[in-house]
Amino acid sequence: MAAPLICPSILASDFARLGEEVRALEAAGADWVHVDVMDGHFVPNITLGPDIVKAIRPHTSLPFDVHLMVAPVDGWLKAYRDAGADILSVHPESGPHLHRTLGAIRELGAKAGVVFNPGTPLSILEEVVDLVDLVLIMSVNPGFGGQKFIPSALDKIARARAVLDRAGSKAHLQVDGGVTADNAAACVAAGADALVAGTAVFRGGPDAYAANIAGLKAAKSPA
Ligand code: DX5
Ligand code: ZN
Repeated sequence: MAAPLICPSILASDFARLGEEVRALEAAGADWVHVDVMDGHFVPNITLGPDIVKAIRPHTSLPFDVHLMVAPVDGWLKAYRDAGADILSVHPESGPHLHRTLGAIRELGAKAGVVFNPGTPLSILEEVVDLVDLVLIMSVNPGFGGQKFIPSALDKIARARAVLDRAGSKAHLQVDGGVTADNAAACVAAGADALVAGTAVFRGGPDAYAANIAGLKAAKSPA
């Protein structure tokens, strides 16, 4: 089984040095840059506007995986795509017409992702599976980094893997929240192929990024 893609969340980076941080992530072996966008309304925190994403875009050639925790989300898709997002992921609760929103993301030329909170039913995936390039299973309630992994996410990852396989989908299956070297193997065994990690990547400062990323990448499924 292939090693998972490692997607460091810059939510845990030094915001005063964002350009250097994404350059350091690329040098340390990261696969994607996970950008957590929070609006202080859909989630109780405010983070990165499109102008900030645009400012860091020239500092790395890694794909920008933009997780939009914004409602209503539709009016922001183009701004983040223009700022350099390669993947735009949305929560079903962030607008009235998920199907239309996912189509709009692909029309902008980006990859489309759908995100499931711990309390969001996975049955929604059956309705949009042909419209997504990425499925993100939240293993915390969104809003903050540094939270504890919710173990029931593992069963949800396995169920999402079954839906994707049954549909013949090649979409990535990503997990986000409280991912560490200790639970990464279980996530991969359940069917995830992309791991978001903030705290576990940035812990120890720039000198530790490469080892932290390698530790997560080593988490292969026992199968
Ligand atoms: C939570 C965010 C996550 C989170 C990851 O709302 O979507 O990306 O910040 O951070 P850690 O790995 O610290 O849980
Ligand atoms: Zn995220």
